[in-house]
This record gives sequence, structure tokens and C-alpha cells, in this order.
Amino acid sequence: MSGERTFALVKPDGVKRGLVGEIIGRFERKGLKIVAIKTIRITRELAEQYYSEHIGKPFFDGLMNYITSGPSVAIILEGKDVVPIVRKMMGVTNPVQADLGTIRGDYAVFTGRNVIHGSDSPVSAEREIALFFRKDELHDYVRADEGLLYD
Ligand code: RTP
Ligand code: MG
Repeated sequence: MSGERTFALVKPDGVKRGLVGEIIGRFERKGLKIVAIKTIRITRELAEQYYSEHIGKPFFDGLMNYITSGPSVAIILEGKDVVPIVRKMMGVTNPVQADLGTIRGDYAVFTGRNVIHGSDSPVSAEREIALFFRKDELHDYVRADEGLLYD
């Protein structure tokens, strides 16, 4: 099995709306392995590093307020092609355009409260994992159904 990993975050609106179990359940049922998971209140300093690509954009201040407005749940997921799989499961940024059946398509109505983040590339995943987790917070194990998920 490939060791590809991605970073996902249930944003403060998702946590406050009680969607954590629903979202994690989707990833588990898809066959993705949870390598690490924790609740974290993102500080302004971490938020600026995490979303540094958006510094200077018109929505940046609103994004900072949103992402620091309560606890988030940070997750590392592992599996073959996990980066594109999680992006597809999230749906596109604007929930109005997100397909039904995706997390944003099913549970959000507004770009500024779109419930979940997922890394957009393997390089972003590596950067975000390092920002949010220490190495000793990651766990290596075999899923009981791994032999059925891959050849
Ligand atoms: P994310 O990074 O959170 O996974 O979302 P994404 O890749 O789908 O979208 P991105 O362009 O990276 O935008 C990051 C987050 O900023 C907020 N946003 N607001 N009001 C706006 O026009 C606007 N555009 C982006 C969203 O919360 C988006 O997920
Ligand atoms: Mg993004």
C-alpha cells in the first residue's frame, strides 16, 4: 500500500455544527487510513502560515477570523491517491457549485463557511502536515480491510 498522505481540517463551523463524525465516517468508509487526528484551536500566527498563499487577497482577514473562531479538527489521511480523492470528496470551494454527494455540496451554502479543508497537492500536504503535527503524533498500523482495498 502506498504511503501517500494528505492533510484535512474540519473547520470551526464544521465542529460547532456537529459534522465531525459524519466527515470522518466518510473518509473511513472510503477506505482511507487515519494516521493522526486532534482538536486544535488555530492561532492567528498559525493561520497566517497555513493560508500564507492568500495573504493580501480581499477575503484574507475574513478567512483569518473564520479559521481562528473556534476549535478545528486536524486529520492526516493515508492511501493511494489520497490527495485527489480527498479534494474530490470535499467538493469545490464554493458550496453552490459543489456537487451533491460531496461534503461541501451536502453540508455548506457559502464559500466563507465551507466546513472543510484538504491539501491541494502532495507538496501542500507535506507542508501542512509539518505545520500541524509533530512526528510522534503520527501512527503506523494496518487497516483490517487493507487487503481488500488494494491488490
Ligand atoms: P481550502 O484551502 O480551505 O481547502 O479551500 P480551497 O483550496 O478549496 O480554496 P482556497 O482558494 O485555497 O481558499 C481557502 C479558503 O478561503 C476561503 N475563501 N473565501 N470569500 C471568498 O471569496 C473566499 N475565497 C476563499 C474559503 O474558506 C476557502 O476554503
Ligand atoms: Mg486551498
